[in-house]
Amino acid sequence: MSNLTFRDGHTIPQLGLGTFRTPDEVVGPIVTEALRLGYRHIDTASAYQNEVGVGQGLRASGLSREEVFVTTKLWRTDMDDPAAALETSLEQLGLDWVDLYLIHWPMPTWGVYPQVWLKLIELRDRGLTRSVGVSNFHTDYIDALAQVSDEAPVVNQVELHPTFSNSQVAEHCRRRHIAIESWAPLGKAQDLEQPTVQRIAQRIGASPAQVVIAWHLAKGYICMPKTVSFDRLKENYEALEVELTAQDVADIDQLDSGQRIGGDPATHGV
Ligand SMILES: NC(=O)c1ccc[n+]([C@@H]2O[C@H](COP(=O)([O-])OP(=O)(O)OC[C@H]3O[C@@H](n4cnc5c(N)ncnc54)[C@H](OP(=O)(O)O)[C@@H]3O)[C@@H](O)[C@H]2O)c1
Repeated sequence: MSNLTFRDGHTIPQLGLGTFRTPDEVVGPIVTEALRLGYRHIDTASAYQNEVGVGQGLRASGLSREEVFVTTKLWRTDMDDPAAALETSLEQLGLDWVDLYLIHWPMPTWGVYPQVWLKLIELRDRGLTRSVGVSNFHTDYIDALAQVSDEAPVVNQVELHPTFSNSQVAEHCRRRHIAIESWAPLGKAQDLEQPTVQRIAQRIGASPAQVVIAWHLAKGYICMPKTVSFDRLKENYEALEVELTAQDVADIDQLDSGQRIGGDPATHGV
């Protein structure tokens, strides 16, 4: 498993498991099986309402706390009290600390995210999370954090997949040593239908999902494809062994259409 090192010195496995819309009773066994296969990074959020199941899956694995990287996120309606929200998440997960805590959506029209960022740093300093970061932040929101703190987020988790390369945000973060985590890395499975992806998959004897995951890894992004299938869990993990040529990566880069699947952070949820 390849690890990336954050700007704060902590490391994160580049490939993880996403758990969006995976209910407690399904997510527990999936997390345990993922950890059995070799995954060491699980991405959840209070909004997914499955932190209890994720915690059960972690405990059933028998792995020690230090061996697994766990991310959860602060939901927008909890932005007035991040400490209470993280304490609740930890209770649900059955953990004393998470590895990464993210502001889930910036809600820019509310004007609170810079102050929320300062509160996340306090939670990190209290030991409730090892690292702090953001999600769905446009470049100007990243810059606004620099107005209130010398500490930049370690990651920005954003929608990013072959047909939505989010290149302006990715480049802005790269220059500031903020790692990119790609959400909807498979384009919610839609990008697997792209003829370029299918052609490369056929040529190298990999699946389309493995090709897309290998593309994220080659770009230096962290990604957490979600699945509820044991077979696809294994298939996605084995993408770690898939090697693309520079030309393959460049061909997949060409698929960018600028079309999001999810909401624009400037307006989403407001
Ligand atoms: N920060 C945010 O705002 C945000 C937003 C969205 C997501 N996320 C995070 O990012 C994670 C991934 O994003 P996502 O779940 O939206 O989308 P995704 O991982 O791009 O796609 C998931 C879809 O792909 C299917 N799939 C998975 N592996 C496959 C394979 N090998 N072959 C064919 N189909 C496959 C899954 O179906 P099956 O389950 O049936 O296999 C599911 O329908 C989430 O789970 C969540 O942890 C964060």
